Amino acid sequence: MSASALESGALSDVDLTDPVTYLRPDLDDIWQRLRQEQPVVWHPGGGFWVVTPHRLVTGVYRDNSVFTSTEGNVLATLLGGGDSAGGRMLAVSDGERHRRVRRELMSAFTPAALASVERNVVAGTRHLVRTAVARGTCDFATEVAEHIPLAAICDLLDVPAADRDTLLSHTSSALSSAAPDATDLQARLARNEILLYFAKLAAKRRRAAPADDVIGLLVRMTEPPLSLSDDEVLLNCYSLLLGGDETARLSMIGAVKALAEHQEIWQALRGGRVDLARAVEEVLRWTTPAMHSGRTVVVDTEIAGVAVRRGQVVTVWPRSANFDEAEFATPHRLDFDRSPNRHLSFAYGPHFCLGAQLARIEIGALLSALTEFADEIVLDGAPKPIFSTFLSGYSSLPVRFVPRSQGSTT
Ligand code: HEM
Repeated sequence: MSASALESGALSDVDLTDPVTYLRPDLDDIWQRLRQEQPVVWHPGGGFWVVTPHRLVTGVYRDNSVFTSTEGNVLATLLGGGDSAGGRMLAVSDGERHRRVRRELMSAFTPAALASVERNVVAGTRHLVRTAVARGTCDFATEVAEHIPLAAICDLLDVPAADRDTLLSHTSSALSSAAPDATDLQARLARNEILLYFAKLAAKRRRAAPADDVIGLLVRMTEPPLSLSDDEVLLNCYSLLLGGDETARLSMIGAVKALAEHQEIWQALRGGRVDLARAVEEVLRWTTPAMHSGRTVVVDTEIAGVAVRRGQVVTVWPRSANFDEAEFATPHRLDFDRSPNRHLSFAYGPHFCLGAQLARIEIGALLSALTEFADEIVLDGAPKPIFSTFLSGYSSLPVRFVPRSQGSTT
């Protein structure tokens, strides 16, 4: 395969490094054509492979001995010279150390360990939704969704309540942007603020006896045999915040938008005719908040017959794979009864999202609270999309609720 790739035909004007591309109304057609005509294709300008079909995306995700995350796992860092946290933060490390740190951290994400976080998520979400529904109109993104995942992660990390708003404003600037003119510098500054904050918090925790929260767990891992460095402790705190806040927020905002746009599905959900777990998975597929992952090729290999060379960047696209007609029947239909639903919103294989269960709890809590308090959900203005090459969704979603006529709204 030559590097003709996206340069040819109807795809000539597609630039996947430009956030504006993801606002194109014909984006779904572009993914479909790529899956069918150029499933593994070289993207010019910076240069990286683009892999779009479900079966090939899972193949790349599965094999982290050939496709490594250690140089970075998103386009922005991979094309910007590599991730400075490579090898020191779970999502951008591989091999034995990744496996061992991941195994330890997973103990904070078991259903039993999440039970108290779940109680707070359910109570907090009910409160936010009940208040918004009673008020009638709101910006669901900023008045409801913004508060749920961050509170959950802060619970996991035991972050003091007084610091939570500041952290939220930094995470928004660090990853995506509500404005097209936001600069890389602003994002870098925001990331530094978050790191500084966690450095202080971890130092404080270390002075006290390490508790059972995730920071306590990480601090204990600074002892042998893992002997995590201080940097590794705070980079991993940072990664939980960045990995789990905006992604989950965007899926919740997308869920409400989808329900407002699919009244029949909202009525089925509200009427209790939908399995909640299936609904949650379909929300995750439908919204696909993390559009791509990036990897670096460790040894010359091939993907579906296309030679890829050591050192090259390979990007895989759940945003495409989750709508692959070879995997999903009628992929562009929102179907809360979809089963099986092998979406790749949480990736696949060795880097499968550590916080998947927590994200499911959050989305489930939202859907339950909506059915408990609202009769109707109506869009009340234009949703505002975010600008990002990595995340997809909306930073503003004006909605109007009609409160449930029977049942408790108090
Ligand atoms: C990994 C998506 C929520 C923590 C990942 C990956 C994806 C993802 C796609 C793999 C990245 C890659 O392979 O390059 C999502 C989505 C979420 C979500 C769509 C919400 C809807 C969360 C939450 C947390 C979290 C709530 C924690 C509080 C992590 C961590 C990893 C990860 C630590 C790295 C795992 C590893 O590399 O072994 N997530 N995530 N995520 N996620 Fe999530």
